[in-house]
Amino acid sequence: MLGRINTTAAVARSLRLRSARLQPQFARVRAMSQLVEPREPSVVTSKIPGPASLASLKHLSAMQDTRAAAFVGDYEKSVGNYIVDADGNQLLDMYCQIASIPVGYNNAAILAAARSDQMATALANRPALGVYPSADWPQLLEDSLLRVRPAGLDMVFTSAHGSDANEIAYKAAFIHYARMRRSSGVFSAAELESVMDNRPPGSPNVAILSFSSGFHGRTFGALSTTRSKALHKMDIPAFPWPRAPFPQLRYPLDKYAEENAQEEKRCLAETEEILRSNPVPIAAVIVEPIQSEGGDRQASPDFFRGLRRITREHGVLLIVDEVQTGCAATGSFWAHEQWALDSPPDMVTFSKKMQAAGFYHTKELVPDQPYRNFNTWMGDVPRTLLTRAIVAEVLDKDLISQVRSTGSYLVSHLKPLSIRYHRLVSNVRGQGTFLAFDCPTPEIRAELLHLMRLEGVNMGGSGEASVRFRPMLTLTSAHVNVFVSRFESVLNKMYQKY
Ligand SMILES: Cc1ncc(COP(=O)(O)O)c(C=O)c1O
Repeated sequence: MLGRINTTAAVARSLRLRSARLQPQFARVRAMSQLVEPREPSVVTSKIPGPASLASLKHLSAMQDTRAAAFVGDYEKSVGNYIVDADGNQLLDMYCQIASIPVGYNNAAILAAARSDQMATALANRPALGVYPSADWPQLLEDSLLRVRPAGLDMVFTSAHGSDANEIAYKAAFIHYARMRRSSGVFSAAELESVMDNRPPGSPNVAILSFSSGFHGRTFGALSTTRSKALHKMDIPAFPWPRAPFPQLRYPLDKYAEENAQEEKRCLAETEEILRSNPVPIAAVIVEPIQSEGGDRQASPDFFRGLRRITREHGVLLIVDEVQTGCAATGSFWAHEQWALDSPPDMVTFSKKMQAAGFYHTKELVPDQPYRNFNTWMGDVPRTLLTRAIVAEVLDKDLISQVRSTGSYLVSHLKPLSIRYHRLVSNVRGQGTFLAFDCPTPEIRAELLHLMRLEGVNMGGSGEASVRFRPMLTLTSAHVNVFVSRFESVLNKMYQKY
């Protein structure tokens, strides 16, 4: 008895100590939510990465490969549309952690969600959601992912990240494909035997069709459908799945309307031919609404309507990969809403700005047996709590309208600049603030990105020589003005040389 009292007292003491230790942490989070966004960038080092970033990267490089690192972030000081680095440089962020921050650094609503009791419980007690879901999980799904579900897709599978979302969507497609062809609901002895040797009929030869320059991730199945860069795929065994041509449009779109329509027709015809005659049957086609990593390549709503039509006619599922385009950046919550499809896609995958990852699907795509599309965690309650706060910010503050108007304002500056500095900037394109332009060479693009950073704007590339805009949904015309003044200054400097 005495022992128990002593233990209880010791636990209480340790909890008090722990909570005293935690207090400064909460004070820091409170301070972060009171940060004010700078009015303009401030660059205090002559190079980026500066000395503090370099010292930190040197430390890190003993443990991890740091060759892709641009600089070291200070995420306590970053605020709104501005990222602050370890040296105190404040950069307008037009790239946002590879297109994955939706509503600003240290957004007060996101910090409030992060500080909540529900978050603490979820973080301290991570459930295996497929087996022991928490009682608040269904309502949380309703208030977050389901609140913005694409029309026609009432179910959601939650997973870890973008590649994982696609990978599991492919499994759902294959399971569905086999079920449609199995006369009885039971697996045959031959299937049960062969599957353990990775042979047909249990492990069938069935394919996912993807498009040239598409990017769908880096796990094995997803990587087999990625076609953006050879380096991503090199040395990794891949499924022998087919590739269809994605339209190569010419800009400006209105000038080349006829030519572009022909190009889309050609690509659709070739896609249909693959669906008809590929030696391995195709279970699903995956497509990005705007090919992102592959170089911000677009196609028209007509093309996507055509793709929906031919996939339906050939009994093939259509997966729309909205990992990068989803969450309002193109001026609609989901980019595919702008296609006016007469029947919805079969699956829509998401991650990045949504913070939670996974795919929306119809009830028909739930396998007959449990434990088939399954893993330990089956998603993540803390990330989904953030999704709930993000979705509320986007809808309550009508950030979709803001994205549309800020995007048009940005384009109204980019187009004249692309005429004035045509040797450096061409093919301005995109939707909402999901915009891009081309540089003449990868080297010129690298120089431009470098100089922009020194002017106080963080940007990213896509494809061979494109520059992509992936700002927060909270970008305003005032931020655009800051960007444009820095951009003009860099273009002026570079134009002397090229
Ligand atoms: C369209 C698209 N799909 C899938 C992925 C893979 O997502 P992740 O890097 O989270 O695995 C990406 C990542 O850039 C992407 O842009």
